[in-house]
Formats: sequence, C-alpha cells, structure tokens
Amino acid sequence: MANEFPDATVTGIDMSPVFPTTIIPANCRFLQHNILEPLPFPDNSFDYVHQRLLVAGLKPRDWVCVVQELERVLKPGGWVELVEVDGHGGNNGPMTQQLWDWIELTLKGRGINVNIGTQPGLANLMEQAGLVNIKQEVFNLPTGLYGGKIGTLLKENEQAFWIAMTPTVIHGTGIDVQEYENAIITSAAEVEIHKSYHTFYSACGQKRTCPSPLMPEPEPDFGEKSPVSPIPAPLSPRPTFVRSNIK
Ligand SMILES: C[S@@+](CC[C@H](N)C(=O)[O-])C[C@H]1O[C@@H](n2cnc3c(N)ncnc32)[C@H](O)[C@@H]1O
Repeated sequence: MANEFPDATVTGIDMSPVFPTTIIPANCRFLQHNILEPLPFPDNSFDYVHQRLLVAGLKPRDWVCVVQELERVLKPGGWVELVEVDGHGGNNGPMTQQLWDWIELTLKGRGINVNIGTQPGLANLMEQAGLVNIKQEVFNLPTGLYGGKIGTLLKENEQAFWIAMTPTVIHGTGIDVQEYENAIITSAAEVEIHKSYHTFYSACGQKRTCPSPLMPEPEPDFGEKSPVSPIPAPLSPRPTFVRSNIK
C-alpha cells in the first residue's frame, strides 16, 4: 500500500480491531474503517480487493453500495473477490437448526438477509456494480471434528459466533439465555452425528478497462484459455478451493 494513504478512520459500529500485531508484511497496513462510508482511498488504487464474511453486518441495500465502492477503488482491470457463507448450514440436527433459526430471526429483525450468497448472490451484486468476467464458486465445508482440521476450525468458529451472538439473540428473539446456551452445548455433539456443513460462496469480478459498456471489452489474458467463465490469473498464489460432497 502506498504511503500517501491516510491513517485509520474509526467511524462504524460493530467493528472489531482484530489486527495481527506480529508477522506483518512490509507492504501491509491495517486501517479500521466503516465500510458503509466511502473508503479513504482514491479511485483506481488497487489491483486486488478481497472482502470476506460480512453477511451478518450488511443490509441488502448496503451490499450494492459496498460492492460499488470496492469497484471504485480498483484499478481498471483489477479484481475483486468476495467470500460469504450461508446463514443456516446443512445437515443440521434439531438444536443446530434451532440455533440458526434464532440467528436468522434476530438478523432479519435488523434488516439483514443471511442468504446473501444466493439472494441475490455475489455474482449478481458484482454485475450490478459494473464488474465483468465474473466467476462464482460454491462449495461445502464440514462443521465438525469429522471433517479433520478444516472441520474442527469451522466448528470452533461456529461455536464462537453463537456465543458472541448471545446478547443479540436473546434481545432479538426473547428466548431464555439458558435455553440458548443449552442449544449451543447440544449442537457440539449434533454436528458430528449429522455431519453438518456450511456452504461457502466465492466470487471474483474484474473492473472494466473500457470506460463504456458499449465499447468492446478486451479479452483477459488468463494464460490457459478456457471457453467459459475463466478463473482469473492469480496475482499471488491462490488457495485451491476444497470441494466436499457432504449432503
Ligand atoms: C465474521 S467477521 C469476519 C472477519 C474477517 N473478514 C474474516 O473473514 O476473518 C465480520 C467482521 O465484519 C466487521 N464489520 C461489521 N460491520 C462492519 C462495517 N460496517 N464496516 C466494517 N467492518 C464491519 C466486524 O467487526 C467483524 O470483524
């Protein structure tokens, strides 16, 4: 990141200052900023923008503005990548399902759509923001020890999310705190029995290099040419998506 960029602006709510303090690459700086406000960067600043797991923080109308803002700070020809998770999981046991229903009800009361990955979908949001060469991938990840290291981490993450959401869910649904906490405990065993999983959505889109949609878009150079929806050439080593067939 260039030195002329400003220091952090802290203007938002529900934002956590969870930045690493060690092992920071030399060209990396952390800013805390409310994404509902214009980013403190000029137009056409970055080759690549990544945003992940804002599903519980943004309302549908915010999504459109946020992706437009990400597009604004991209250089022409630059790429944006969005990654989101479903709001309910799959192969749920009864208590796990109950937890996700409470979460969905709570967030719905705040105007948040937990199914942004499918309605309207990340690719659709990118299209509305004027991005091109959009490619979306959908994959399932296991939630439980049965899924090895990834499953163990995702289960820990899920449990931490539910615990962190306790006051919000109690307030949003009116349920008893003991009932909610018992459901979290029961779910820890349920996810192993039912082999629960989450569906993740990952989409990449490119900023136009031409000023007008009427002008022909140059073919992107992906190295290996593919006839349909080519995967963008990575700017740095790109993780291989794990595809599981948990159903
Ligand atoms: C589920 S966490 C994901 C964190 C990180 N992106 C990751 O993938 O590990 C959601 C994050 O969104 C942040 N958040 C919520 N609303 C926000 C907003 N309006 N502007 C910026 N960040 C926001 C929260 O502080 C929280 O750190």
